[in-house]
Amino acid sequence: MQEKFDQLKQMAKDELLSVFSTKNLFELKTKYVGKNGEITALLRGMKDVPASERANFGKMVNDLKVEVSEMFNQKEIELKEKELAEKFESESVDVTLPGKINKNGSLHPLNLVKNKILDAFCGMGFEVFEGPEIDTDYYCFQALNIPKDHPARDMQDTFYITDNVLLRPHTSPGQVRTMEKKAPPIKILSPGRVYRADDDASHSPMFHQIEGLVVDKGVSLCDLKGLLDEFVRIMFDEDTKTRFRPSYFPFTEPSVEVDVTCCKCHGKGCSLCKGTGWIEILGAGVVNKKVLEMSGIDSNVYSGLAFGMGIERITMIKYGISDIRTLFENNVKFLKQFNRR
Ligand code: DAH
Repeated sequence: MQEKFDQLKQMAKDELLSVFSTKNLFELKTKYVGKNGEITALLRGMKDVPASERANFGKMVNDLKVEVSEMFNQKEIELKEKELAEKFESESVDVTLPGKINKNGSLHPLNLVKNKILDAFCGMGFEVFEGPEIDTDYYCFQALNIPKDHPARDMQDTFYITDNVLLRPHTSPGQVRTMEKKAPPIKILSPGRVYRADDDASHSPMFHQIEGLVVDKGVSLCDLKGLLDEFVRIMFDEDTKTRFRPSYFPFTEPSVEVDVTCCKCHGKGCSLCKGTGWIEILGAGVVNKKVLEMSGIDSNVYSGLAFGMGIERITMIKYGISDIRTLFENNVKFLKQFNRR
């Protein structure tokens, strides 16, 4: 009997020598000490052993099981250590490799400029009101004193949806919608997309404007001058000067076009300002009394000033961009230049 036990033990020992992975070890364990293993089978044969020898037999089988299990456990510890070492080796990280650089995005130049304009005026007490991009003939034209035969209404300039509904060609309807809703004092900016049937190096069928409106008692052209002087100093630089030229807009009387000293040559004359030293940045004026009255504001008590500027135009002047289309192509090389980090 003892001989058989020794033989089994030796077999397990020999087989263990050719085990090199925990997976194979598990198979070997099952073969000897598993539920149907060879040593477990010995216990099952106990019923054939004479009663007087049973106790001794049981002890011997158990001792054998403990001994063989111990061998397996020892091997398992060794194999696990070996496998872990191999894993560390194969998954090691080369800490000398260069790290990954996170590329940061940035605001689009039009948003940079829009935010700067809004900041400048909000610092002077303006609020922001956004009107709809699809609007009616009344808000875009009639209420702004733009008569039926005015060229701005021409199908060539304006995208009509129906006879009465159109893509707004400017943000000036924001003035009317505000005056209808709010009693003076009013101090608002109305930014947004506008649409015109125009497409070349300095015009785009969709572009952005910001409209400004102030209505209060005693508002005059002097206030407009002071306000815009302050704005251009914030937008361009401290030394930038403004110039008002007489102009005509149906919704303002008097109307002006506002120029600033060229930010490239500072007034000396260069290619950007076509040798004049001045660049036009916006249209403005004192709100026409008819416009105030149409929106329900008593023009004998209140007066107003208004201005409207193109964000693309300001952006192109500020950054020396010669073709408006570069602002819409989203070429990453171009946009990267505005990443201030
Ligand atoms: N709406 C005009 C345009 O699109 C810009 C403008 C000019 C707005 C004079 C005004 C203004 O409020 O007073 O060309």
